[in-house]
Amino acid sequence: MTTQEKETPSGLELFYRTMLQEIYWCELHLRDVLDNMEERAGTDELKLAFRTHRAETNDHIARLEKIFYLEGMGAQPIFCVGMQGLFDEGWLVIDETEEGSAHRDAALIVAAQKVEHYEIAAYGSLSTLAKTLGFQEAADLLEQTLAEEKKTDGILTQLAESDINIDASIEPVNKEQLSPPDTGSITTESEPAIATMKGAIKGMDAGAGSKATQAGNEAGIPGSAEALLVNDSGKPKRTKRT
Ligand SMILES: [Fe+2]
Ligand SMILES: [Fe+2]
Repeated sequence: MTTQEKETPSGLELFYRTMLQEIYWCELHLRDVLDNMEERAGTDELKLAFRTHRAETNDHIARLEKIFYLEGMGAQPIFCVGMQGLFDEGWLVIDETEEGSAHRDAALIVAAQKVEHYEIAAYGSLSTLAKTLGFQEAADLLEQTLAEEKKTDGILTQLAESDINIDASIEPVNKEQLSPPDTGSITTESEPAIATMKGAIKGMDAGAGSKATQAGNEAGIPGSAEALLVNDSGKPKRTKRT
């Protein structure tokens, strides 16, 4: 291998770096999200779980910053559309459940576990990529974070199974919750980024997977932005943010 070839990063390494920047964006925002979830949770145990994981999230950020240093990169976050969708879902849960109810706590746990599972997928993949690329120190740091994400997921499952889901299952429903949600004035924090992507992927059919992917590839953007906004029947997804 020539010196030039060694100094030029592979496409896989560039992809790895982008993934690092995206999960960095997620972690930076998760501190505020976990603060909010702690505030809205109705039991001391669930509040403690969110508070503890918020402290761990600071460590996740510090590890990523160390990896950026090892890679010779600046710590620059990149917007993560997948995680923003999960944040939007979390706000829907808060909008649509009653303060102090077991139903809200059960739904907060589901929302939090979706975030944890996203992180577990991201850190597991990043660790594998780091090993492939020969970045063993980075892989070790990523696996430390992966273990903490898995531990948090387990704690949330325990909380759901021990009390919260059972309490929620016998809690009478509020009559207002029986009426269909208002979808007339939906907004989401993802909209500006999605609008930018849609602008870049002109002429794409909603939900047309292979065509959309091909158009996205031509535009240098992975996947279909339209597909993010529609459900399986091609109708707009219900998303709302206070
Ligand atoms: Fe994390
Ligand atoms: Fe996490």
